[in-house]
Amino acid sequence: MNFNESQTKVNLAKSFAAECQAGARYQFMATQAQLENFVFVKDTMKMIAKNEMAHAKLFYDYIVDKSGECKVMLEADYPYVDPALETSLLSERKIEEEEADSLYPDFAKVARDEGFFDVAESFELVAKVESTHAEILGYIYDGYKKNNLYKSKNKIAYRCSNCGHIECRTEGWKKCPLCSIDMGYIAIDFGEIFESAACF
Ligand SMILES: [Fe+2]
Ligand SMILES: [Fe+2]
Repeated sequence: MNFNESQTKVNLAKSFAAECQAGARYQFMATQAQLENFVFVKDTMKMIAKNEMAHAKLFYDYIVDKSGECKVMLEADYPYVDPALETSLLSERKIEEEEADSLYPDFAKVARDEGFFDVAESFELVAKVESTHAEILGYIYDGYKKNNLYKSKNKIAYRCSNCGHIECRTEGWKKCPLCSIDMGYIAIDFGEIFESAACF
C-alpha cells in the first residue's frame, strides 16, 4: 500500500501530536511538583516527558522517512486537563491506559493490515511503555492523594536522590539520615515494584 494514502500515515501524525502534547503536560506537572517540593515526583514527570518526546520522534521519523517533507491534515480530539497535580496524575493515568490498551494496539493492527510491519511493531512497543507509565502515575497518585507516597506494605529500597543514600524499609525518612535533605527527595525504584517494569 502507498504510505501517502494509508491510514497509518494519519495515525502516526495523530500519535506524534498526542505524544508532543503529553510531553508538554508532563513538563507542566514537573513544574507543579517542584513548587510543592516533591522533587522525586518532579524527576519522574521529567523522565516520562522525555519518554513521550522519544515516542514523538519515532513517529515523526516514520512519516519523514516514508513520505519526505509533507503536511498532514488531522481531525482528532486532544485532551486539555486540570493542571492541579492530583487531578492531572489521575487523568494522565487514564490517557496512558487508553493508549496502552486500545489506541496503539488498534493503530498497530491497522499498520499490520496495510503492510507496515515496522510501524506496527513500534506501536506495540510504545503501548508497553505507556502501560508502565500508567502504573507509575497510579502509584504516585495514590500516595499523593493519601499523603503516604513513602509508605509501603513490603520493604522496598528508598534512595535519596540528593546524596545517594539507600535503605530497604517500609517507610521513608522525614530527613535523609546521611545528608538531612527533605523527604521529597526520596526516589523509589519502580522496577522493583511493578512486574511490567521488572526488566527495564
Ligand atoms: Fe508516549
Ligand atoms: Fe506515556
